[in-house]
Amino acid sequence: MLETAIEYIKSKIADFEPEIGIILGSGLGELADEYCDIYIDYRDIPGFEVSTVSGHKGRLVFAQINGKKVVMMQGRFHFYEGHSIKKVVFPVKVMKKLGVKTLIITNAAGGVNASFNPSDLMVITDHINFMGENPLIGENDPEMGERFPDMSEVYNSKYVELVKKAGRNAGVDLQEGVYMALTGPSYETPAEVRMARIIGADAVGMSTVPEAIVASWAGMNVIGISCICNSAAGVSTVGLTHADVIKAANTAKDKFKLLIKEVIKNI
Ligand code: HPA
Repeated sequence: MLETAIEYIKSKIADFEPEIGIILGSGLGELADEYCDIYIDYRDIPGFEVSTVSGHKGRLVFAQINGKKVVMMQGRFHFYEGHSIKKVVFPVKVMKKLGVKTLIITNAAGGVNASFNPSDLMVITDHINFMGENPLIGENDPEMGERFPDMSEVYNSKYVELVKKAGRNAGVDLQEGVYMALTGPSYETPAEVRMARIIGADAVGMSTVPEAIVASWAGMNVIGISCICNSAAGVSTVGLTHADVIKAANTAKDKFKLLIKEVIKNI
């Protein structure tokens, strides 16, 4: 299936060879509207699913940004949509085969760290996989990566520093911290958020970790950026809705785009 997808995509993009991949999270897809040289709808790509979440468009966008060749996922597949974990990470394997060296994974997340505010951006320094699933379960493909991949530096400190420097250059304030992934689609209870804090999380969300595991396994440099869209349950007394999450992502989208463009420049 992977080979069929690659063949199809290559037939559409000719000799365009992306070196950077970006997965655009909920409400953060606008970068791919601004920069779009070629696009392919997910529904046309063999092996791809269709994203069912509002705030996600569902296409693969190819563009040149700040002199770099980039492929963007405008919308991703979530485990909570009922896709198998293998389907969730399939596009990452496709990006690897297309030649992507560095993958920027973005998401909307809830702030567990009480010092975070809605619309803050957080560079991910590490993650906790609390999904009860691992995308590498099953037969290993040794051409992509090893059976027992080391996860001690998924978000390489060199790249965390690169993002922080890009933030300074672009005048965008950044938080940093550990992202913990749960399956969703229900948001966490206050007790679960207290647990998340105790075990070392700064933010909680429903994505990113499967893609980061596969990208790291396949030898890609991984950068993670969360848009803190709300205080997680119990951290503030306000209830949360998907509409609030999208609204906060909207507030953050201009500085998010500035940051990503500066990051791309520095890769
Ligand atoms: N929890 C999990 N995922 C999220 C949240 C949250 O509070 N906000 C945005 N995505």
